[in-house]
Amino acid sequence: MEVVIAPADQLAVLAAEAIDRLLRAKPTSVIGLATGSSPLKVYDELVRRHTEEGLSFAQAKAFMLDEYVGIAEDHPERYRNVIEKEIVSRVDFAPDAVQGPDGNAEDLVAACADYERKIVDAGGVDLQILGIGTDGHIAFNEPGSSLASRTRIKTLTAQTREDNARFFGDDLAQVPQHCLTQGLATIMSAKHLVLLASGKGKAEAVHQLVEGPVSAMWPATVMQMHPHATVLVDDAAASRLQ
Ligand code: F6R
Repeated sequence: MEVVIAPADQLAVLAAEAIDRLLRAKPTSVIGLATGSSPLKVYDELVRRHTEEGLSFAQAKAFMLDEYVGIAEDHPERYRNVIEKEIVSRVDFAPDAVQGPDGNAEDLVAACADYERKIVDAGGVDLQILGIGTDGHIAFNEPGSSLASRTRIKTLTAQTREDNARFFGDDLAQVPQHCLTQGLATIMSAKHLVLLASGKGKAEAVHQLVEGPVSAMWPATVMQMHPHATVLVDDAAASRLQ
């Protein structure tokens, strides 16, 4: 695992650079997109490179990590809508090139299996962008998630619902209770993992991720077993590293 400690504004540039290099070398690459605040500046930097430097997503595909269950199709916090707004609508992805788990499917179990199949059919994810929760989750694999897990339905923990209430007008009651999420094994199948974390609130999770024992109780620690994982952290998020 490669750990890079850099000023907060440089982290996004480093992650965008990795995607830029990949797309220019292999325009048909498959990118794994994350929601949440951590990747927002990465998306801004990718948009800048698209607009000013000719970076193209026209032949690429992308898969999202997760989605809330039962959230209104037009809700601004539905992850599909967030990703559309933050990156998809601002670059040149082909129609239907970006997919996410269907949290409003009638048969959620079938939707999860279908999503796994789609990722495999696309040839797997080449580079997966990740954030990390304060409790060490990646995607919505909360503490206790099986390291062998695949896309499935999960219940969000109280901690994550509280963390995400800021996106729902600080009204906890509005935060969905369930989600569909890629599993830890699904994420581990990606060829390169690039995780971003900034701020003191992430310091304990980053400490566990890099220095803790591999454990389902800190799900991100599974990344220690990945052959190509990059962890991009600012000073505050790195403050508990030894
Ligand atoms: C979102 C996701 C989550 C977030 C994590 C960190 O798709 O998968 O694991 O990456 O909750 O969220 P932020 O970046 O908002 O601190």
